[in-house]
Amino acid sequence: MEAKELFPGVFSINGKLATENLVKGAKAYSEELVDAGSKEYRLWNPYRSKLSAAIMNGLKEMHIRRDSKVLYLGAATGTTSSHISDIVGPNGIVYCIELSDRNMRQLIKVCEKRKNILPILADAGDSGKYEEYISGCDIIYQDVSSRDQSGILLENSRFLKSGGYAYFIIKSQSIDVGRKPSEIFEQELSKVSNVYELVEKVTIEPYDELHMFAVLRKR
Ligand SMILES: C[S@@+](CC[C@H](N)C(=O)[O-])C[C@H]1O[C@@H](n2cnc3c(N)ncnc32)[C@H](O)[C@@H]1O
Repeated sequence: MEAKELFPGVFSINGKLATENLVKGAKAYSEELVDAGSKEYRLWNPYRSKLSAAIMNGLKEMHIRRDSKVLYLGAATGTTSSHISDIVGPNGIVYCIELSDRNMRQLIKVCEKRKNILPILADAGDSGKYEEYISGCDIIYQDVSSRDQSGILLENSRFLKSGGYAYFIIKSQSIDVGRKPSEIFEQELSKVSNVYELVEKVTIEPYDELHMFAVLRKR
């Protein structure tokens, strides 16, 4: 078994993506564990995680690295954030904002083993509720199924360092099911263009449809 490092902390094992497990033996969902002697990897399914899908589809650069401080908006039950927790390592941190208390209950189980994830039950559109816990983030990762996706990103941009990156996943169906997805993607990107420049955009089909995965840099 050979693990080839594609980006720092992101590996390819027999053509499948993986991260090195921060907590050996622990799963965050139903992912497969791969034993490699002193190390253990967790396979990272692109059908379950849009970041994995974007990497599979040729994301050029990965800004989430060891020791990064990440603000994750819309963490759900912790699938993608658990892999980000592997990547940032024990000295990094992943602040996870999630609105649904049902999802939060599952996320808390993941956090019990992963001390670098801080779960926060809150509306990402009301950042005053968690501002006392968060500052100086290197990355915002946003994957919220909400109507006002650009508004939520702008609301949280104050927590991002200047020159930091926002991974902005736009779900057209949550904004307007009747309009062309490409128009909605352009509209959402233009709404944040005063604050962010577009670095790259990746489609995530066939893993997920009607989404745009955009990488933005804070001006
Ligand atoms: C597509 S799921 C996220 C999946 C997750 N990013 C992953 O890959 O593991 C979208 C999540 O956004 C949450 N959400 C929707 N609106 C929100 C808001 N205003 N604030 C925080 N979370 C929100 C939903 O409850 C849901 O869990």
